[in-house]
Formats: sequence, C-alpha cells, structure tokens
Amino acid sequence: MQHHPADSSPSSTPSPDSTAPPSSSAAPWWKGTTVYHIYPRSFADDNGDGVGDLAGVIGKLDYLRDLGVETLWLSPVFQSPQADFGYDISDHFSIAPEYGSLAEVRRLIDEAHARGMKIVFDMVLNHTSNEHPWFREARHKGSPKRDWYIWREGKKPGGKAPPNNWRSMLGGRGWHYDEASGEWYWATFLPFQPDLNYRNPEVKAAMLGVVRHWLEQGVDGLRLDLFNAIYKDASFDHNPFSFRPFPSEDNPHGFFQRYHHTLDHPDTLAFARELRAVVDSIPGPPRFMVGEVFGDAEKLREYCGEEADGLHLVFLFKTLRTRLTARSVRELLGEFERAFPAPLLPTFVLGNHDRPRVSHRLGGCPDKAKLLATLQLTARGVPFIYYGDEIGMKGGDIPMAIGKDPIAHRFRKFIPQFMARWLRGLGILLNRDECRLPMQWHGGPNAGFSHADAAPWLPVHPESADNNVASQHEDPASLLRCYRRLLALRKELPALNQGELEIIPAKGLPRDVVAFRRAPKEGEGSRAVDVYLSFSGKERAVDLEGAEVLFSTRGDDAPPSSRSYSLAPLEGLVVARG
Ligand code: GLC
Ligand code: CA
Repeated sequence: MQHHPADSSPSSTPSPDSTAPPSSSAAPWWKGTTVYHIYPRSFADDNGDGVGDLAGVIGKLDYLRDLGVETLWLSPVFQSPQADFGYDISDHFSIAPEYGSLAEVRRLIDEAHARGMKIVFDMVLNHTSNEHPWFREARHKGSPKRDWYIWREGKKPGGKAPPNNWRSMLGGRGWHYDEASGEWYWATFLPFQPDLNYRNPEVKAAMLGVVRHWLEQGVDGLRLDLFNAIYKDASFDHNPFSFRPFPSEDNPHGFFQRYHHTLDHPDTLAFARELRAVVDSIPGPPRFMVGEVFGDAEKLREYCGEEADGLHLVFLFKTLRTRLTARSVRELLGEFERAFPAPLLPTFVLGNHDRPRVSHRLGGCPDKAKLLATLQLTARGVPFIYYGDEIGMKGGDIPMAIGKDPIAHRFRKFIPQFMARWLRGLGILLNRDECRLPMQWHGGPNAGFSHADAAPWLPVHPESADNNVASQHEDPASLLRCYRRLLALRKELPALNQGELEIIPAKGLPRDVVAFRRAPKEGEGSRAVDVYLSFSGKERAVDLEGAEVLFSTRGDDAPPSSRSYSLAPLEGLVVARG
C-alpha cells in the first residue's frame, strides 16, 4: 500500500528550539548536538513478542533525556520483510507492524520534542527490498517501472554471463540474473536489495518525496545509508583491477577491484548538493543529514560540498580503528581538524549496528571506556553514541551458523568461525548479531529488555545480570555516570558544544598525554577549557596553574585544582582556564 505524501497530515508539532545551545549564535542546533543511535529491534520490547518496538523506545525517553543525549537516531522502522532487519524497505510510508504504527511514530516525535529532544530517521535511498511493489513491477520487462532499477543484458552466449565485472560491496558479484526476464539487475549490497536507478528522474522525484514526507512529519534529521553508492557510471565499463584483497575504513576498494564506476561517482556528489537544497528548504527548524560514506578524510569531505553545500555531516569511521595511544589520537584529531575546518564539522563514532562493540576493543576496561568517552564528548564534532555503549555493553560471541544476520548467512558457507573471530579483531563483523544484543536495563529476566517470559529475538548477554543500567545508575564510579556528567558538561559549555579546537603541542606535555583547548569564538563571553587525556599506565603530572577542574573520569571527588595535578593512569580531565 502506498500513500501519496500529500495525503499525510502535516507535522502537529514543529520541534521547539529550546535545545539550541544556551548562548547560541547563529549556529544551527545540530552543530552542537549529541546523537544516540537506537537499534529499535534490540532496545526495549513493550509488548513482549521478543522484538524491540516504538512503544519500547517511547517508554525509555525519560532515561535518554536524563542521560543527556539530545538527538535520537533510529535504524529503519519502515515496512520491510526484515531480511536485513529494516535496511530492506518495502514501503517508505508505513511502519513495520512489529515496531508499531504511524500513530506511534507520531507519538515518538511529539514526546521526544516535548522533552527537548530531536529525532533522526534512517533513509535507505540506494536500494529497496526486492519485495517493494516497485521492484515486483519492475521485474516485468516492458513495465513502466522497469527502468526504476538497474537492468542490463548479460554477455553472450545467451546472456548468461553478467554484464560486467562489478562486485558488490560484500565482495561477490553484484549482478543477479532474473530468469523470468532474462536480464541482470544490480545490487550494491545483498541480492534482495536491488539498487534504484537515480538516472531515471521519476525515481529521484519519488525518493525526494520520501525525504520531504518524513521531514514534514517533524523528523529533524536523516541518516543516509550507503550514500556513496547512489550513482553508478552510465558507461557500465569494467571496474579496474586492484591489488587490495579487502576494503578498509579509509579505503572502500578491495576484493581485487577498484570500485571506480560503482562508488563515489561525481553525480552522487552533485546529488548531495541537490538533497541539501531540498532538506534546507523544509519549513520549520533546521534539519540535517549525516551520510554513511567510506574513504579517507579528504574523500569524505567532498560529500560535504566545496561550499559546505552538500551533506551536513558524514560519519568518520576512523575513530573505530584508532589505536589508544597519545600519538594516534593526536594524529586523528589533527586529521579531522584539517579535513573538516569550520563551518564543516567532524563526527565521532565509536560503534554502530554493523561493527564490533567498542568494548571488544577495550577488553572491557572501564577506565579506557571513560577515556574514550571523554575524547568523544569533548572534541569538536558531533558524537554518535551507540545504544549500550554508555554502560560498556559487550558484544556477543555468536557462531555464524546460528546468526540471524544475512551477512552471516552469506559467509558461513565458506568462512570458518575462527576466521570470523579474527576478522572481528580487525573491526569486520561477519555476524552483526554480535553487536545487536538486547539492551541491558536491569539484572532481572531478559535484562529488562522484554517481558520476563518472552523469548528475545537475540539472546541477552550473559553479563547482563551484573552490568546494566540499574546497577550503573547506583554506582557513582560507573561508566554511565561518567557519560551523564560529560553530556551535561558538553551541553552547558559553549566552548565544548560549539568552540574551536586547538591541539596543544606534545612537547609541553608529559609522555602519553594528549591535550587540546576548546575555545568559544571571539566575543562569545565564555571560558575556554582544556582537555587532558592520559593514555599512560602511570601517573603523569600536568601544570594546572589557575585552572578549575570541571570534570574528571576519576569521579566527582577528583582532587581540587592545584598547581601541579597528577593525572591518574588513563584519566580524562577537563579544566577551565581564565
Ligand atoms: C548500511 C547499514 C547496514 C545495512 C546496509 C544495507 O551499511 O548500516 O546495516 O545492512 O547498509 O542497507
Ligand atoms: Ca515488541
């Protein structure tokens, strides 16, 4: 069932601007915001069917407000066969019944806005489900929707060889043969996710209609799935050979192919600017887009437009792989600052629904988690917090053989489990169930994710009895309390939520310590703050003459300011100057 965008009632509540930073200059709210990423299937199950839902999210809004996050991004909740758990949409205008209804989306938007929070929806523009009525229709050769997807004749003999050598992002062939019509369709990701053809103006108009529709419903921002794949080259020439076996965070080429004709097409960059104009033209408060794109910082910056007229933000996934040493972190900050100078803005991502949980990397060490949270929430950029990372939730260890994730289905035939574990250590997750375990709310049955007698769609982590929101809430030294204090500080101080960043040269600092200054723009009348991050296992003395301690990962009872302050091992510290 399709609804025409015009049929839907306009937003009942434009979001209040009360969440703008207090001493706000002209900067739009999203530049100072903090984002919390909810994987709705795993967050909170209200009706006890084992699957998280919108009513569950609504029930946790007070928790999220008290945590201090300002913007909530939900992975897709649209109608879908759930073959890729929502990233395969079969109707962009309705909600999958297991998650709720349009009325519940309305309530979520209104209730979030009433608490001064914003809502970001996940837009899968690149492809649809193969069960979308558009694709069902497109399967018939000669149908008016045929050209909404990318169809090609195969090579001789008999068209049984794919049109060219293009590989999907997952490494295998991206072309799929359709027996009925004797042609091949293109899919950047999995075979049941056929790519839309943006060279057809009707497709572009339809998808811009989807974007407008949700923004007009009062959604405050959009996360754009696989945005670097939107346009494929019209020549359909072969992709060139590459020596790279695997793609990486900063280089999406691999599987012995350079994805020259299938990723980062110049037309995609032009489309980013076109989308920007549409999004900025929606009446009401400013909205923003954040793009899922891959590449080095320079490549990613291109998506933001030469005149900062493209995507508002792009994910910078490099943080996921950065070693926790002073040198690597200093380099990372330098690189982000160089590539994303104001008015551009970096992003700080520590995890998402596709990646190993950050706690895997930290070996479950709470001090490292606090240190990384301090970096994420005090650097210049928009932080994206993945649900559960505020309590250091651990990833599961789930064999691909029983994985629900379609990627596990695809790879389990030829990649042994020990290899999947090894790849996980490199940041590549072949069973994404592992990072999607139910949120750990309390130590009771099903960790409070679902009703006591329900069967959650994925198992709760065995540690949930000891590590959960309720237990950390009680413990002043917990990671959760640390997140709350950081989020509160960031909200309060213009230096943190909109100031500039200057890296303090390493030569004036003890070994293994990174420091940077966040200073409000001139004339904004607020104090500068200095952030110290110690990656050392030993105490390190820093000079704090005349400074006031505002935050320490040690807790509220951090020693008062004195001339020489000894940073504890792995301490994160924020002080005010002047
Ligand atoms: C993005 C999503 C991922 C999804 C894929 C296909 O990478 O983050 O979860 O499977 O796109 O839509
Ligand atoms: Ca449910």
